[in-house]
Amino acid sequence: MIQESTVAAEGKQFFSDGALFRSTSIFVRCVGSASVLASHYRKAADVPRILVLYHSNSGNTRQMAQLVAEGAGQLDGADVLLKDISSADHTDLAWCDGIALGSPTNYGSVCWQMKKWWDEQPLENWGKRDGKIGCVFTSAGAWGGGQEWTCMTLLSILINYGFLVFGVTDYTGIKFSAHYGAICAGAPRDDHVQEACRRLGLRLSEWTACLIDGRKEAHPLNQSYDRFSDLGK
Ligand SMILES: Cc1cc2nc3c(=O)[nH]c(=O)nc-3n(C[C@H](O)[C@H](O)[C@H](O)COP(=O)(O)O)c2cc1C
Repeated sequence: MIQESTVAAEGKQFFSDGALFRSTSIFVRCVGSASVLASHYRKAADVPRILVLYHSNSGNTRQMAQLVAEGAGQLDGADVLLKDISSADHTDLAWCDGIALGSPTNYGSVCWQMKKWWDEQPLENWGKRDGKIGCVFTSAGAWGGGQEWTCMTLLSILINYGFLVFGVTDYTGIKFSAHYGAICAGAPRDDHVQEACRRLGLRLSEWTACLIDGRKEAHPLNQSYDRFSDLGK
């Protein structure tokens, strides 16, 4: 079992270098006569690894993170890891294929703890995590308190690190979306805010499965759930 997961991990690593499908298929061909093994390895390589990484001073961003993780887990087979930055390090960045990054909005921007965490990442890893998928979320004290500025700052950290970032086009309530990331005032109490957090996580799993693992059926446009019924209301 340990060897199998090592092989799957190597497949992912090769992808970071731009050749997952080639390396995986070569491997599968090597064990071609053992079809059970081959399908096992293919399945292992198809699991999107999702890291939900956050800092929270008073628990609101943590509640959002839990909802984002719940949403990420809605995709079949997603492997979701929820971590506070105090227990996370560079190996978590190496492990994941997709990341949702969350911070409280402090003075209209990312909290210092989150910025410090990224500032202290080993520089030699920079530029070696390119092509992973990223998205963001934040809680501020009030609507209009700077959530979208914070989202853009979080996104710029991810972009700088090499992540491919996205926002959610869906509406999860009337006049409510997560175009630049999931946002909240205080704790995520309202249904449409909670659903935006879940949708962000689900979308992260979908994009990661589609773009990293080659699961075209996971593309958002291939989903049957309702994405826009509140648009225009
Ligand atoms: C130092 C500090 C700065 C803050 N700055 C803002 C701000 O610019 N805009 C805002 O709406 N709320 C601001 N707040 C409120 C927090 O963003 C809000 O309480 C948030 O929900 C906290 O999330 P957390 O529970 O995950 O820490 C600030 C809070 C602190 C402690």
